Amino acid sequence: MKVGIFGYGNMGSGLALCIGKTVGRENTVIYDIDENKRNKAVEDGFGSAIDPYFLCDVSDLILIAVKPTDVEGLLRDISGRIREKLIVSIVAGLSTERIASLTGGKRIIRVMPNVNVLVGKGTIAYTCGEGVSNEDEEIFLKVFSGCGDIFKIKEDLMNSFTALCGSGPAFVSQFVRALNLAGVREGFDSQTSLKLVLSLIEGTVTLMKEKGMDPDDIVYMVSSPGGTTIEGVRYMEEKGFGGIVINTVREARKRAENIG
Ligand SMILES: NC(=O)c1ccc[n+]([C@@H]2O[C@H](COP(=O)([O-])OP(=O)(O)OC[C@H]3O[C@@H](n4cnc5c(N)ncnc54)[C@H](OP(=O)(O)O)[C@@H]3O)[C@@H](O)[C@H]2O)c1
Repeated sequence: MKVGIFGYGNMGSGLALCIGKTVGRENTVIYDIDENKRNKAVEDGFGSAIDPYFLCDVSDLILIAVKPTDVEGLLRDISGRIREKLIVSIVAGLSTERIASLTGGKRIIRVMPNVNVLVGKGTIAYTCGEGVSNEDEEIFLKVFSGCGDIFKIKEDLMNSFTALCGSGPAFVSQFVRALNLAGVREGFDSQTSLKLVLSLIEGTVTLMKEKGMDPDDIVYMVSSPGGTTIEGVRYMEEKGFGGIVINTVREARKRAENIG
């Protein structure tokens, strides 16, 4: 199995490192328009293609990881060579139907990863075009298994997923930042405060996952009647914290729709 990757930027390089763990770096070939990035790929132990056509010819699965502004020109250029290949695209806003019309291909999987793939902990959604077989899907899941948690979703939820989990690392970071500032306000230095907050978040997530608890379980478990926690929770409720978060994701989703 040879994987060819177009684009060795933020996402392409991050995914390549994860994919390299499952198929082997020697079986992963990169083509980036920028020679420096091609050289970097070779330094990182990957194969590098001298031109886009060579990459198409040697690859069984082709991953498209270039910017939305560059993708249509690229797909038109290589369309004659990728019609029969398994095409995986992470390009935001580009539908499987549009990829099919640009390439004439049928085996198309659209993927939305988030930046957490850089540490192999991505939250990744995918949707399959009509011509994708069960075997194609199995190959895809195997190749991407080192990138993080993978969820199959309907294509019409892709913009919502992009808002929730694609933009999500920034939203979570906003919350981490606010808690960090709260720690500083209470008298901790900022480095200590950040360590406390990261440990707090990691521990809370682990508690939910390992004990099968949902957020309400934890809120009620920690909030004793008339105690400290319920005062903080009441303040969050009063100021509309939940509504702010829900609307944050909705605004991001609307923007994804407009861009698409
Ligand atoms: N960043 C995220 O969090 C995120 C999340 C989900 C999905 N995505 C999607 O991931 C894709 C890549 O994003 P990114 O942040 O990794 O972009 P990036 O860092 O700009 O990487 C794209 C790379 O592709 C190169 N390139 C441009 N045209 C090419 C061509 N025809 N053939 C080969 N390489 C070409 C670019 O070179 P030049 O710089 O010289 O143009 C650049 O090195 C985007 O479509 C985006 O929608 C991103």
